[in-house]
Amino acid sequence: MSSDGKPGVIPVAKAGFVDGGNYETYRPGYTDEVVKEVISMATDSVESCDDDCEYDILELGAGTGKFTECLFKLCPQGMKVLVTEPSSDFVKTLEEKNPGVNTRQCSANNIPLPDNSVKAIIAAQCFHWFANDENITEIVRVLKPGGNFVLVWNILDEKSLLNADFQKFILKWIKDTPQYYDMRWEKFLDSCDKVRLVSRKCFDGPAFKGSIDHLVRLRTTFSYIQSLEDDQKEKACEEIREFYENHPEGKGKEFLTHPMITDVIHYKISKK
Ligand SMILES: C[S@@+](CC[C@H](N)C(=O)[O-])C[C@H]1O[C@@H](n2cnc3c(N)ncnc32)[C@H](O)[C@@H]1O
Repeated sequence: MSSDGKPGVIPVAKAGFVDGGNYETYRPGYTDEVVKEVISMATDSVESCDDDCEYDILELGAGTGKFTECLFKLCPQGMKVLVTEPSSDFVKTLEEKNPGVNTRQCSANNIPLPDNSVKAIIAAQCFHWFANDENITEIVRVLKPGGNFVLVWNILDEKSLLNADFQKFILKWIKDTPQYYDMRWEKFLDSCDKVRLVSRKCFDGPAFKGSIDHLVRLRTTFSYIQSLEDDQKEKACEEIREFYENHPEGKGKEFLTHPMITDVIHYKISKK
């Protein structure tokens, strides 16, 4: 619970997003093509087009700034951007990497901004963590009427045998952890009368490519592994290593690739 009694970040996310250095080293970023599309969706005109907004873009769940740095590289000069993230360790990494960035440490249910003060909200690789009534109410509150809500996820391309097998193998640790793949976030948004789907596009994503060591370390950046007790984490890492070593696409290979796609979805907020 947050200090005002509102439930905030769920326990597995709280325990799983604590090592900003590890996350920053092993997680992939976003392609320029994707970032340009997100910016184009986020800057789509809003109904009340006066310029009295506090911010053009609010990024929620920004983590260590994987998307943030791409956004700053490609967004038009002079845009007012606020970046938020609940994990203090992740905020620290984000600020070290992006000096001068305007950040607040907060969860999506407690955004420190007035009503109708933002033209667009972006959530990269994170909305599945806070897809519920309380958070969407807060998102709708701070967005201007007609404001843009843009979601982006890098996901495994299940056309790849390695990916399809890996997805089945990893389920025993995921259990009920919220994920992009469970699509609960999508069903939730479909049922919200204040949110309207505008468009959805898929792109080739950045590959998860590396040695088996690298891919095992990458997996430790996922909350359902990072949040395990040390001995269980070690055991999980051993099992993941064995999976790669024994998989037909891994056997005897120095490097392996998990092909990725990126899903980009544009919603608009209605206050009526
Ligand atoms: C997989 S990381 C994505 C980080 C970053 N956006 C990226 O693209 O790498 C998920 C992020 O969602 C954040 N998160 C989890 N629950 C949240 C909540 N209730 N409100 C806001 N952010 C949350 C986590 O702290 C974590 O940084």
